[in-house]
Amino acid sequence: AAVLNGFPENFLWGGATAANQLEGAFDQGGKGLSTADMIAFVPKDKRQGDHSMEISTERIAQILAGETDDWFPKREGVDFYHRYKEDIALFAEMGFKVFRMSINWARIFPNGDDALPNEQGLQFYDDVFDELLKYGIEPLVTLSHYETPLGLTQKYNGWASREVVGFYVKYAETVFTRYRSKVKYWLTFNEINVMLFSPYTGGGILTDHVENKLQTVFQGLHHQFVASSLATKLGHEIIPGSQIGCMLARMESYANTCNPADVRKRQQEDQMNLFFTDVHARGKYPRYMDRYFAENNIVIAREPGDDEILAANTVDFISFSYYMTLTVSAGPEGEATAGNLLGGIKNPYLKASDWGWQIDPVGLRITLNNLYDRYQKPLFIVENGLGAFDKVEADGAVHDHYRIDYLREHIKEMKEAVKDGVELMGYTAWGPIDLVSMSTSEMSKRYGFIYVDLDDTGSGTLNRSKKDSFAWYKQVISSNGEIL
Ligand code: BG6
Repeated sequence: AAVLNGFPENFLWGGATAANQLEGAFDQGGKGLSTADMIAFVPKDKRQGDHSMEISTERIAQILAGETDDWFPKREGVDFYHRYKEDIALFAEMGFKVFRMSINWARIFPNGDDALPNEQGLQFYDDVFDELLKYGIEPLVTLSHYETPLGLTQKYNGWASREVVGFYVKYAETVFTRYRSKVKYWLTFNEINVMLFSPYTGGGILTDHVENKLQTVFQGLHHQFVASSLATKLGHEIIPGSQIGCMLARMESYANTCNPADVRKRQQEDQMNLFFTDVHARGKYPRYMDRYFAENNIVIAREPGDDEILAANTVDFISFSYYMTLTVSAGPEGEATAGNLLGGIKNPYLKASDWGWQIDPVGLRITLNNLYDRYQKPLFIVENGLGAFDKVEADGAVHDHYRIDYLREHIKEMKEAVKDGVELMGYTAWGPIDLVSMSTSEMSKRYGFIYVDLDDTGSGTLNRSKKDSFAWYKQVISSNGEIL
């Protein structure tokens, strides 16, 4: 192939979101509750650890009994449900070629195991897709982005149960059929590896009453792998020409030193991250996991035919989120850092965001090269961006040069990776419009090109306005990444 000097002509530029952080209207249009609707805002000084993503069985009962005055930001999102026309018009003004969003499963099957889908929910996404297509914006749809119907958690303990595979497949079949002429690009599970860090967020699984947490988590993951393969098969059958991908929170890691003990430790961490894409892309469990399973008393229950399903339905492309890299040490040395899933130790060559996530543009080039070497499948960066505090000036402007700098440096390295020969389909910046943070439920952790007037406690007009990065990103897209 000829060496590319820049991004291919059909490169898909855009932005990425998730229904539970964006839509709001959590109890409208016939929607049922989802796991995300149970997560309350906890101020930083009261938070235990970096995030608020796990929950107990008791706490859910308390919330459902109305015994709390807490504020649940993901129930309100930023009201995309009512404002999608205005928001999509702004995305179109920036020249988006693609918009990544998720379908909130509980809008379609309110309890998860309903016999029939909810027509109002189906209609809502028809309207959203029509609005996108009106501007020539391709939807890229995640089937499951941390919004398992709560009914599945209550009745089946979520993905811990094999039965949930069937409910997911029915949901996938319903939306593939309904949107066959509107949506070509699909992702089966957002950051499937999040299950390791938060089984509730990743799989609607409560672990406070299970005996062997790791066993439950890996069994749940097996169910998701099988479900993903079955959905991939169905998608290909129902939508000719569809492209179905997996999605990983990629955690490229570095050894802290050239001490072989550090290098080996890093290799183990890396395998634990690539395990997920290994199954999705190669269609089988990698052999390095056998030892891990044996040493941790994990025995995965498989049904006859599971191995064949995984082998026959590998993904068309590999997508991932990229925010940071990790540095790994075999010993106790090094100061800990924060991250969206995992910490690691401080890398003295990198600066960090206000939330302690280490900023590493070159790491993106390394990530792209490594993933492409390993799988030789097209890649898609479906999340990248800077969560930051923004200041609104008296005239309403937001001068977010820090965000522009972050994105510019990452896009430059992405372009280098394309020149290195990596097949890259597109780039969707996380949160093109400010939305509720996944890990902390804050509004003040902003990623957008579009500012939303809403604070951590839910006060604000919800008005939208353009930050400086809006015009900048528009130019990036119109020049196909040449003007940065
Ligand atoms: C990814 C998730 O891990 O990171 C998104 O897929 C999330 O849902 C994003 O919003 C950024 O994380 P946070 O916690 O800053 O919102």
